[in-house]
Amino acid sequence: MTKPSQISAGSTLGMIAGGQIGGFFSEAALRMGYKVAVWDPDINAPAKRFASEPFTGEFDDKRVFNAFKEIVSGVSVEWENVPNSLIKELEKTVIVKPGSKSLTLAQDRIKEKSFLASNGFPLTEYVAIQRIDEINGVPFDFPWIIKTATLGYDGHGQWYIKNMTDITGNSALQDSKVPMVVEKVVDYQIEVSVVVAMDDDGEVIAYPPTENLHKGGILKMSISPARIPDEIQSRVIELGCSIIRSIGDPGVFCIEMFLEKNGNLLINEIAPRPHNSGHHTIDAFSVSQYENQVRVLTGLPLREPIMLCESVLLNVLGHEYDALMNNSAINQILSSLNAKIYSYGKTSIRPGRKMGHIVFCGTSLDELIRQAESCQDIMDRNLSSG
Ligand SMILES: Nc1ncnc2c1ncn2[C@@H]1O[C@H](COP(=O)(O)OP(=O)(O)OP(=O)(O)O)[C@@H](O)[C@H]1O
Ligand SMILES: [Mg+2]
Repeated sequence: MTKPSQISAGSTLGMIAGGQIGGFFSEAALRMGYKVAVWDPDINAPAKRFASEPFTGEFDDKRVFNAFKEIVSGVSVEWENVPNSLIKELEKTVIVKPGSKSLTLAQDRIKEKSFLASNGFPLTEYVAIQRIDEINGVPFDFPWIIKTATLGYDGHGQWYIKNMTDITGNSALQDSKVPMVVEKVVDYQIEVSVVVAMDDDGEVIAYPPTENLHKGGILKMSISPARIPDEIQSRVIELGCSIIRSIGDPGVFCIEMFLEKNGNLLINEIAPRPHNSGHHTIDAFSVSQYENQVRVLTGLPLREPIMLCESVLLNVLGHEYDALMNNSAINQILSSLNAKIYSYGKTSIRPGRKMGHIVFCGTSLDELIRQAESCQDIMDRNLSSG
């Protein structure tokens, strides 16, 4: 039975912004019989490698807007910081998932946190400030993390604060004119995330939670499933699903959480899209988070994903990419480890930029973590010798 809003194979799906997440969406869409139009201001955006129709132009370019809108039957986004005005304009005539409702929340930490708090979800202690001099009213002790309310990613727009001198001596913070949130640093046991997909009828499916290890504010390793008791896994999934139900917008989402040492869960943030900590779903599950993004957008049915193997995902950041791709490292990694390499096709390297990832699949997490650590050692050695 086809639903009226179902988008048939052969149609063109639109992807706003074309990084690796848009690229994996495009691969899944192509495999399922769709064409993909990728719109990104960068002519070399990675997802354009898979685009049947690449669109290059700023997101406020009316000419590009009209041409793009003309050919797409449905639109999804690569990340939350695409202009909401564009999404609202597209929503008038095209199916867009996730819609402006969830983007509005995810684009602004203050809106997101007050939505979560008013719906009774557990959060880190925080205070929203409009100007830096309001910092004196923060009622909890150091250490803090100050985050800009908008446009943060990979730890950008964040400052770790141990005392008042870290604020008075920081000219970027002193000169900052933008709203911010001040959060208490959580002394967590581990960080976890859960990917949830919701369809038009409010049916949700979820992947087992992933355990995430960050380095310098950037995700470095994800372990699936997270090494936490079943009871906590269930609580993470329930919490993630009820947040997405209360937002009420169909799409694929990832909810990042902290597991405190006392077993409490606190929500860190929501991404209204597939997530870096879910790349492994391509290899380790019956259906990936990207295929689910396609299914939700096109109105195809969702089904609980089956885990095919345990997995560890290692991000390749900045110049680690050169270190990985030099002949001696890649030969050593591929001959000695069960590594599957994903390279995003980015044309320039910046420190900390996500250039690719490596997945290790198998039956023993201890062994997979050991392999990922050996792989990291090989990259590190080639980084220092290169
Ligand atoms: N209140 C906190 N207590 C402890 N650690 C924190 C806190 N807030 C953030 N962090 C650490 O910094 C990382 C990045 O923070 P956050 O997710 O808020 O920012 P982001 O820039 O949106 O990152 P990303 O794009 O990776 O999701 C978190 O995953 C966590 O490791
Ligand atoms: Mg985050």
